[in-house]
Amino acid sequence: MNAVFSHRPVLRDQVVAWLTQNGGERYVDATVGGGGHAEALLAARPAIRVWAVDQDPEAVAAARERLRPYGERVQVVQGNFRHLAALVPAAFRPVDGVLFDLGVSQWQLERPERGFSYQHDAPLDMRMDPAGDRSAFQLVNMGSFEELTRVIREWGEERWAGRIAAFIVEARRREPIRTTGQLVDVIKAAVPAAARRTGGHPARRTFQALRIWVNQELEALEEGLDAARDLLAPGGRIAVLSFHSLEDRIVKVRLRQWQEAGWGTVLTRHPVVPEPAERAENPRSRSAKLRVFARRAESS
Ligand SMILES: C[S@@+](CC[C@H](N)C(=O)[O-])C[C@H]1O[C@@H](n2cnc3c(N)ncnc32)[C@H](O)[C@@H]1O
Repeated sequence: MNAVFSHRPVLRDQVVAWLTQNGGERYVDATVGGGGHAEALLAARPAIRVWAVDQDPEAVAAARERLRPYGERVQVVQGNFRHLAALVPAAFRPVDGVLFDLGVSQWQLERPERGFSYQHDAPLDMRMDPAGDRSAFQLVNMGSFEELTRVIREWGEERWAGRIAAFIVEARRREPIRTTGQLVDVIKAAVPAAARRTGGHPARRTFQALRIWVNQELEALEEGLDAARDLLAPGGRIAVLSFHSLEDRIVKVRLRQWQEAGWGTVLTRHPVVPEPAERAENPRSRSAKLRVFARRAESS
């Protein structure tokens, strides 16, 4: 599995530099994925130890495999980072840094059976944790017109949300919408031809919205950030890589609130973004924004 876990860690060297430049030793990777960032952290200094989390059991297995050479210096556990307080044992705290690299990995997108991608035909699923209690099938086939419209408008920032919701409701009267391919066809029919010629794939925003709903991504992010803050040692840092404006807004507001409350300092006045070379080489990195917060050096 390791060999096929294709995911390039975005802003890898910058993330490692921000987290480790104060000489810390204990780090939490809240979204270990294939373990790319975790491996870079472990390689930075022999004293570094990493407690790694991912809600996707397949990612956990891949990360364990990849990070095996680091032996006892790394632990990989399955769980949702909204429960970080319970996932990181007392013996590992306080920590010098926490990393969040949000969203899905390239590898998850490329596994058709997970149903994340509008480019493959697969059952409508989109759960990062296959034991999760809601799937895209549920919202698409059971959600009301109003709920579908709201989700697609707010979380997809899709201007055609009302039309897409109406077409979904109409299509599912004939038969359930079971696959990503069926849903893509419904969305294509709903979005006017002129609008389809611009702005990328017509299903991109709706798929983003469904994924956020299925995985309760924004609630998890708010809870995860707060849980991470409580793990930090004085001077410890939180680094967050976000990939769309809804996530970035939550991160920006949260870090600013912490600063205003006297908890510490936002170190990135403006978000750090990849250089042109990385953007050219890794399309997924193009929307990335990195924000970093440091807890006050003196404990209060
Ligand atoms: C972009 S990938 C991380 C890639 C990783 N940094 C690397 O270098 O390979 C994001 C990962 O976060 C996981 N994830 C997303 N939301 C999560 C949550 N709420 N709790 C735990 N893991 C989550 C996904 O399952 C996915 O594996």
